[in-house]
Amino acid sequence: MLVLGVESSCDETSVAIVRDGKEVLANVINSQIDIHEKFGGVVPEVASRQHVYVISMVFKEAFEKANVKPEEIDLVAVTEGPGLIGSLLVGVNAAKAFALMYKKPLIGVNHLAGHIYANAIEHDMKFPLVALLVSGGNTELIYMKESFDFEIIGETLDDAVGEAYDKVARVVGLPYPGGPHVDRLAHEGVDTYHLPRVYLEDGSYNFSFSGLKSAVINLAHNASQRNEEINKENLCASFQASVTEVLVNKTLRLAKEKDVKQIIVAGGVSANKGLKERFAKETPANIEVCIPSIKYCTDNAAMIAVAGYYQYIKTKETADLSLNASASLELETK
Ligand code: KG4
Repeated sequence: MLVLGVESSCDETSVAIVRDGKEVLANVINSQIDIHEKFGGVVPEVASRQHVYVISMVFKEAFEKANVKPEEIDLVAVTEGPGLIGSLLVGVNAAKAFALMYKKPLIGVNHLAGHIYANAIEHDMKFPLVALLVSGGNTELIYMKESFDFEIIGETLDDAVGEAYDKVARVVGLPYPGGPHVDRLAHEGVDTYHLPRVYLEDGSYNFSFSGLKSAVINLAHNASQRNEEINKENLCASFQASVTEVLVNKTLRLAKEKDVKQIIVAGGVSANKGLKERFAKETPANIEVCIPSIKYCTDNAAMIAVAGYYQYIKTKETADLSLNASASLELETK
């Protein structure tokens, strides 16, 4: 089964062609990072215009790379949400136009399901499992009894992990998006600042990162008022140590409670080296931790094609041309 995936929820325009949920024939990603860098974050209106500008070229390149003709596609899978509404609409309308023109079945995919199913490209997902979803907009701990069955056990009460990374990066003077830069500097420093580890007193699986972010900001401001230099490497190492300790600790606790044999990590922050190292060090031998390779961690259409494939296998349901984008779409069991 050849699935065409389309992703445009934020600042990446991506089109992919994937065979049987596994073999990625093309995964073309046109990133807008350079455009938004000077603003220190994604500007929604600029993002949607850029999607409009490049999407036809990205489609064309994907078909050329995969060496596939449009007539050969069996299913069109598109991100319907959550994300920036203007950005989402571009992908949804392009996918609908393609489905209409070539008379192909269409399926709307949740972006977060896409991040989770990115793992199915390089690993076999073994249910029941626990998924840790960490991105610029989400931090969620999910229990999956079976495919497309999502029970959200914990989530962030304030900032998403990626968002906290990006804000800390800005305070330290690193470019946008800051996560990879903080990760790199963290490996050149040591945890000397001993920042708080926020476990929440209710003992729940929820997360909170805004206090930690404020601790970093206050530290930097106090230092500058006293004309003292902060050690950027050590501050990044301290921030990363605090974040990864809480993420890994809660994920492993849930994995043991639910007695699962597999943990999958998903979303842009799953590219974090410190997180990978901590999981490798602390996970018991009877639990497998799967993390996608970097190209499938951040936003891409291959993950949408794969999620669409498994969603279709489970539900056999397709959408009609009334399919619409939804900025705050919830992750739902199918
Ligand atoms: O999943 P993603 O591409 O977009 C969303 O759907 O949010 O995630 C982007 C986020 C950004 O906040 C970025 O700084 C963060 O992922 N990120 C990282 C790393 N690579 C990307 N955060 C920490 N360490 C990294 N190595």
